[in-house]
Amino acid sequence: MQIKDKMNARFKNLQGGLFVQVAKADVGEGAGDFQKAGGDIMAWADPFFPDPSIPESVKAAMAAALADGFPSHYTMPIGMLELRQALAETIHASTGLPINPSRNVIVTPGSDSGLLYAMMPFLSEGDEVMVPDPSYPSNFLNPKLLGAVTVPVPLREENNYQIDIGEFEARLTDRTKMVLISHPNNPTTTVFRRESMEALCRFIVEHDLILVSDQAFQDHIYDGIEFVHPATLPGMWERTVTVCSISKGLGLSGFRIGYLYADDHLMDVYYGGAVNVLGASCTLSSIGAVAALRDKAYLQEVYERLERRRRQAYETFRDIPGVTMKCSESGILSWLNISALGTDQEVADRIRDEAKILVNQGSPYGEMGRGHIRIVTACFARDEDAQARFDRIRAVLMSMAREKGLC
Ligand SMILES: Cc1ncc(COP(=O)(O)O)c(C=O)c1O
Repeated sequence: MQIKDKMNARFKNLQGGLFVQVAKADVGEGAGDFQKAGGDIMAWADPFFPDPSIPESVKAAMAAALADGFPSHYTMPIGMLELRQALAETIHASTGLPINPSRNVIVTPGSDSGLLYAMMPFLSEGDEVMVPDPSYPSNFLNPKLLGAVTVPVPLREENNYQIDIGEFEARLTDRTKMVLISHPNNPTTTVFRRESMEALCRFIVEHDLILVSDQAFQDHIYDGIEFVHPATLPGMWERTVTVCSISKGLGLSGFRIGYLYADDHLMDVYYGGAVNVLGASCTLSSIGAVAALRDKAYLQEVYERLERRRRQAYETFRDIPGVTMKCSESGILSWLNISALGTDQEVADRIRDEAKILVNQGSPYGEMGRGHIRIVTACFARDEDAQARFDRIRAVLMSMAREKGLC
């Protein structure tokens, strides 16, 4: 008997487990072994990894809580009230939305679980979910795990990766149920401009769809670009679930704190399933998250450091023959078109073998990700340490450019 034949088709064919040839770099022991052997990982979207990055105010709050003994107990399955209050204030300050901490926001153990949970009530077998391509790989997989069908919608480099509503209209069917965006977009760092977002939201309202907006990277937007919250656009509040995280914006990925917010008619259902699906988030991390959200000096310092870092990366890679890129609009990533140098696998393998650095191949981010690599430029606490790695990556890309006769 094949035990997997007892599983449903969505799970039994999952790739990246123990017995496949190509292990997923972000799941198994592969990346850890690489690091132990002296290599560096710039492939996890984890600010300041692997250096310590917990601010003193947060350490103090957590140490005091440990001394009290309270963190050995559960928080509410919907999240600790003080954390929901701090989140409600933060969300209100950036969106103007009237967020009631006891009705509109739920804390999740990281936003990955929040994203899957956000989709669960809506998706049935055969429903179609439109996902801009390239996007965060989990956003292509999650709908499939729930029996739905993912419909990639291309974002084109020549269009600055903005939304072309014609591409959505061309893929609309009577099974289309949901649009799932990563905004700002991982991996391209694109902030969807007002015009793009308004067109998308009109399309969603007109066709009576649901929007799940993955906003894990929303906290750092550069160059004064406006960040339009889709939940604030006409007709959207009642049909949008916004999923966020403290992992990227606050540099506290190990705390495993995410959150989702929505209209209370949607929240009614998310409250109903919270204990079954989410359990509860970590009590100690929740206490730390409250302190982090209230420490404005720390938040400003993180912003400034990440903003410097994306410029450093741009200055290092922008003039390499055969590489095209834009200075990142948001977050902690750089997205390089390296198609003139080789496939994304060839280039990532050369960087791994010669620079001893793991970066991401573009292909897992969708068909449109081919020919690209993603570098997590916010890795390492100190700018100099990051720069030393950027220089090693540059040296490999320059060698490849020379081999192609590009310089
Ligand atoms: C776009 C995006 N959304 C969500 C997540 C999940 O982050 P977390 O579960 O740490 O909140 C990630 C992690 O890399 C991401 O890149």
